[in-house]
Amino acid sequence: MKKLFSILSVVMLTAVPCKAQVTYDVIPLPRSVELNPKGEVYTLNRGAIVTYASGNDKMASNAQLLAEFLNTDAGFQVVPQADVKPTKKQPVAITLSLGLQNPNREAYRLTVDKKGITIQGATEEGVFRGIETLRKAIGTKAGDSVELPYVTITDEPRFPYRGVLFDCARHYFPVEFIKQFLDVMALHGCNNFHWHFTEDQGWRFEVKSMPELTKKGSIRKQTVIGRNTGIYDGQEYGGYYTQQECREIVEYAAKRFINVIPEIDLPGHMLGALHVYPELGCTGGPYDVWCQWGVSADVLCAGNPKTLEFLKHVLDEVADVFPSKYIHIGGDESPRDRWKKCPKCQAKMKELGLTHEAELQTYINKELEAYMHAKGRDLIGWDETLEGGLSENAIVMSWRGSKGGIAAAQQHHRVIMSPNTHCYIDYYQLKNQWGQPMSIGGYLPVSKVYSLEPTAELSEEEAKYIMGPQVNLWCEYVAYPQHAMYMLLPRLDAISEVQWLPADKKDFEAFKSRLPRMMELYDKLGYTYCHGVE
Ligand code: ACM
Ligand code: ZN
Repeated sequence: MKKLFSILSVVMLTAVPCKAQVTYDVIPLPRSVELNPKGEVYTLNRGAIVTYASGNDKMASNAQLLAEFLNTDAGFQVVPQADVKPTKKQPVAITLSLGLQNPNREAYRLTVDKKGITIQGATEEGVFRGIETLRKAIGTKAGDSVELPYVTITDEPRFPYRGVLFDCARHYFPVEFIKQFLDVMALHGCNNFHWHFTEDQGWRFEVKSMPELTKKGSIRKQTVIGRNTGIYDGQEYGGYYTQQECREIVEYAAKRFINVIPEIDLPGHMLGALHVYPELGCTGGPYDVWCQWGVSADVLCAGNPKTLEFLKHVLDEVADVFPSKYIHIGGDESPRDRWKKCPKCQAKMKELGLTHEAELQTYINKELEAYMHAKGRDLIGWDETLEGGLSENAIVMSWRGSKGGIAAAQQHHRVIMSPNTHCYIDYYQLKNQWGQPMSIGGYLPVSKVYSLEPTAELSEEEAKYIMGPQVNLWCEYVAYPQHAMYMLLPRLDAISEVQWLPADKKDFEAFKSRLPRMMELYDKLGYTYCHGVE
């Protein structure tokens, strides 16, 4: 009898479909959520139609992505179909439309009422942000129908730039994983993928006019074990992205309204290239693709005219593959010791009347800025680029704390805030490091990420120069997709609210209460994440 009882309960449990727990308490939290006080709900049925006006590829793609999301998240099918007019027999459940009057192109309004669900955007991009909100509201559990409380959500992001850096140079990550990385970014409303793919430890961007760069420069003989222990693994390591793959990633990102910013880190972090072209270094080499971590003394020679020629060839192809308005030219951790001793560099300083080697870096940056400006591009550099004076249109990415960003904003330069105090997600996220995968060190819990105020210490006028915040995932110690995802989640949730919400709407305790549902989604989608939240 007892056995029959348990069999029956199993049958009953599996036969009763679980009801979706719809809640608009998602991450990032929308700016305004007005629930209908009467508690009425709209029932969305399996097989419902999602419609949009034909003749707009972006809206067709939006509808298709919504259908994919609901299917992968909850196994719930909806059917995209253009230009469907509602009839009694065929009611339209979800309508995607344009025409919202709002100067912010990412603004959207999501309404649920007796007529169904409508997402109206200022542009297709706004509609997409609303789609991400809707899927998170529906969550992972849907049976044959989902009951959505009537609501009006009016939403738009605080910052126009919401970035995530991924270092695919210290370690190579497959294209399929980069797509998943972009999916996770889109889920959190992020819109700029900063792709760091050239380094001392490997050059991973195909340059067709210089095939040796990837053929030889992408390969290091071995990799140091642990934190520069002097013991090496004896395994050759390589991998690079063809231009075809880069284009595929750009296209995949664009469907999710994410811009891809490539970074050619210069004049330091260049051993991958110097291995192939030793004549571009001050000493003439030979140089190895580096097998350890840290900052190399060997950098590009600023006095050799071939250096600028080389960089312009690289940037020609970068600009050809990546449509991004912004191109990153690095500039961090580039020691100037070699330049001090190099006759070519010293002659160049004399010729230009420069008094400090930092100004040589500015000279390179200015040359490249003029070159790229003619192609309609703006350059971003790490905050070291401030040291020799900024070029006219330079954008500063502040990483050594916020002070570089503050100084740049005060000089009326555009700034992206990614201070290592709050945004370096290669640090440990739990106090107890045992049981966590090894990381570079440090301690950056979710709460610290959440506490970032990107415009702190700036006047209202200066704050306008802050384009937005970005988290950086450096990968010296991160070699596999699951580890990368673990470092990202849930700190990406925290930065997403810093990026999206006005400062006075942020609330860490309320944020924490919204996390478990996001984690249900990560479980469903097979994403690894850190379960502890400190
Ligand atoms: C950096 O972390 N070196 C930008
Ligand atoms: Zn030199």
